[in-house]
Amino acid sequence: MAEQSFKITENLSKAQKYQNFLVQYEALIENETDLIGIMANTAAALKEAFDFFWVGFYLVKDGQLTIGPFQGSVACYRIKKGRGVCGTAWDKEQTLVVPDVDQFAGHIACSSLSRSEIFVPLFQQKEVIGVLDIDSDQLADFDDTDRIYLEKAMQIMMKTQI
Ligand code: SME
Repeated sequence: MAEQSFKITENLSKAQKYQNFLVQYEALIENETDLIGIMANTAAALKEAFDFFWVGFYLVKDGQLTIGPFQGSVACYRIKKGRGVCGTAWDKEQTLVVPDVDQFAGHIACSSLSRSEIFVPLFQQKEVIGVLDIDSDQLADFDDTDRIYLEKAMQIMMKTQI
């Protein structure tokens, strides 16, 4: 593969940055099928493109969410269903945007620097097999634009498994 940089041009709207990102992202993963490898490169690409504080995956294993590939500081190993924001996104099977983690009852603080978060569940044959978790050190850093494009990225990612 040719050397790739996921630095996105500045002075674009957030939606344009995501559109730009998705074009490069599809090329990055199109010829790979190993999900752990794809998740590792997905976390790296999102971190480089958007400079998020923490980007990573938790995977459903033995009835719990277990830490998967990520970029950022060390994080909790295991999260039970319905616990924390990750476990709630898994339980509810929907994307959760948390503008202020201090206002989310049961939030699990892996880092005290994390202020807002977004969680996107990953579906395989309608089952949640994990979640994408992105944390920001800014309050209210995620909105509907992030939700729409990150859900799209996760659909593209999970299509590599069909
Ligand atoms: N804050 C998450 C735990 C995972 S870390 O943010 C990496 C939660 O409440 O589920």
